Amino acid sequence: MTKNVIKIIDVHTHMYYPKYMNLLRKRTNIPKIIKTHDNEERLVILPNENNIGRPIGREYWDVNEKIKFMDNHNIDVSIISLANPWLDFLTDNDNPVKFANMLNNDLHNMCLDKENRLFGYGVLPMNDVNFGKNEIKNISMLKNLKGIILGTSGYGKGLDDPNMDIIYEEIEKNNLVLFIHPHYGIKGENLSKYGHSLELSLGFPFETSIAISKLILSGVMDRFPKLKILVSHSGGTLPYLIGRLDSCVKYEKNIVKSLKKLPSDYLKDLYYDSIIYNADCLKLLKNLVGIDNIMYGSDHPFFPPLIDKNWESVTKIQEIIPNEFKTKIFYKNAENLFNIKNE
Ligand code: URA
Ligand code: ZN
Repeated sequence: MTKNVIKIIDVHTHMYYPKYMNLLRKRTNIPKIIKTHDNEERLVILPNENNIGRPIGREYWDVNEKIKFMDNHNIDVSIISLANPWLDFLTDNDNPVKFANMLNNDLHNMCLDKENRLFGYGVLPMNDVNFGKNEIKNISMLKNLKGIILGTSGYGKGLDDPNMDIIYEEIEKNNLVLFIHPHYGIKGENLSKYGHSLELSLGFPFETSIAISKLILSGVMDRFPKLKILVSHSGGTLPYLIGRLDSCVKYEKNIVKSLKKLPSDYLKDLYYDSIIYNADCLKLLKNLVGIDNIMYGSDHPFFPPLIDKNWESVTKIQEIIPNEFKTKIFYKNAENLFNIKNE
């Protein structure tokens, strides 16, 4: 039997796995799933959205829906991650170590079951970096798990927390990809007045930009030069603001002395998805970081179709990629980064 050649790899696509859904259904605090008067489930995960949330259907937790979506949008391979807020909110009573391990094993079995179509990012228990380190070791033994998804707050104190080095070291050693994703927005601003629009369009990208800037300025990329970091949503606002960061850092003598190069140079060592919805902005990213560091992502199942079955958000992401860059952004770069064989 001849195998199809992969033409699109989706590096940013989520699920709430069935056991995670069950946990959310049982919870009374955010994150949680509530039921409307019509018995419809709604997902409540962001602060300030108590009891409103958003509709959540099978596309969030049924792997067969994921495959259907992929088929409808010509996506050959998906690298699946648990959606926000991952396991950040679990307490010791929830036994996060056991739960993370169970979710990762379930994800891996789900990937194996859909031969050649699915890979995944594992999740870590967030109660202690040493438990996280152990789980990274487990994840590295599951052949279809290619990385780790982590929120911008890391283990609660940001990506520049010195404790995080234990995590970075283990991920680098095992040649996994660290996928950084927002959830918390920016502090001090109430962005919830206009539905989810400001949280998702501004809160998320600024959060990512701040987190990655701190990671760069604290020297993580000098200490772990082989660590492969994938940044959500085309780097947030950081590509646009990188000139200011370079310029402002130059006035901080301690930082200049401690770093090997300028922030804009580190930007070229990171990887990005293409989830920016605007051709000019994608071009800006490409000009700054090079074409080899950008790969296709859909953010499915968020931003679902409003009218018919066409995921406009997803087709838009596909349309903004210029023809001459499609091969690299759609699959070549992801094949290289994640070591996915295309036979
Ligand atoms: N909304 C979310 O909560 N998460 C995403 O990844 C995208 C949109
Ligand atoms: Zn996402």
